[in-house]
Amino acid sequence: MITSAIVPVAGSGTRLLPATKSQPKEMLPVGKKPVVQYVVEELARAGIEQILFVTGKAKHSIENHFDYDHELLRQLSDGEKKELLAELEFERMQVSFFYTRQRRQRGLGDAVLCGQRFAGQEPFVIALGDSILGLHADSSCVAQMIAAFEAEQACGIIAVEEVAPDMTQHYGVVRPDGTGPLFAIEDLVEKPAPGQAPSNLAIAGRYLFTPIIFDAIRHTKPDKRGEVQLTDAIRILRGRGYRILGLKLPPGERRYDIGNFESYFATFLEFALADPVYGPEVKKRLLELLRTEARLPADG
Ligand code: UTP
Repeated sequence: MITSAIVPVAGSGTRLLPATKSQPKEMLPVGKKPVVQYVVEELARAGIEQILFVTGKAKHSIENHFDYDHELLRQLSDGEKKELLAELEFERMQVSFFYTRQRRQRGLGDAVLCGQRFAGQEPFVIALGDSILGLHADSSCVAQMIAAFEAEQACGIIAVEEVAPDMTQHYGVVRPDGTGPLFAIEDLVEKPAPGQAPSNLAIAGRYLFTPIIFDAIRHTKPDKRGEVQLTDAIRILRGRGYRILGLKLPPGERRYDIGNFESYFATFLEFALADPVYGPEVKKRLLELLRTEARLPADG
């Protein structure tokens, strides 16, 4: 049983300035919830019981969000707003939260290394705090990764998503051996130069590893920006002959990366449109705006 996850949230989120000047990008709302709440709910549904957040400066609001707010609960229970209590149901999730600080932002690999003591000798999941899987986090990906890990002899599994060829330069990209949904990874490259990607399968923000990954991270040289990349550590494991698998996102699921404005805006719009209560009104307004912009007739 794999019940632990590390969620790195220590990045500075500079691509989302000024929104992220004093608040974590992982706390930006997408529809009604902050991004990181979707991530935690997804992990809880996959059977994760302990989550370690690797935080940094100005990330206190993440701790506050997952804490009980007795004052707010009392205020809502005593007043006319009892129906809003349902919005705080997530506080009762059966998950224990732990926090550690990455003292200097030295990259994702370094952030994961901060979780070594937490992981102990057991395999664990890594879930990026700025990426949601599936619309409204309705994803079976991590559960499938855990099942595949338990059935196969491998030291790691990485979720991957098929992306357009001109997008591979923004992600870690794998070279697969085979074409099925679950395959062995031959090699991987962090942000390949245009035209140099080994495939269109991009790492989708969810990983599962045995603690052997920590030794590989310790042996990983920082890149030219001084960051220790998790992708480079995984390459070291491949170089040592360890078996690592890739799992394509289940059909119908997507990775929503909110790390840049283009995809943050698009994700917000998609989630807001799919909101069962507010979606129809958002759609109406959006159609009005689009018609005005395209100068279409009202029934066009
Ligand atoms: P990104 O690669 O998007 O980096 O992080 P970033 O620093 O947050 O963003 P930009 O490039 O300045 O806009 C991917 C995930 O890894 C975490 C981030 O919090 C995010 O969830 N991360 C990244 C860390 O925890 N520590 C780091 O040093 C870097």
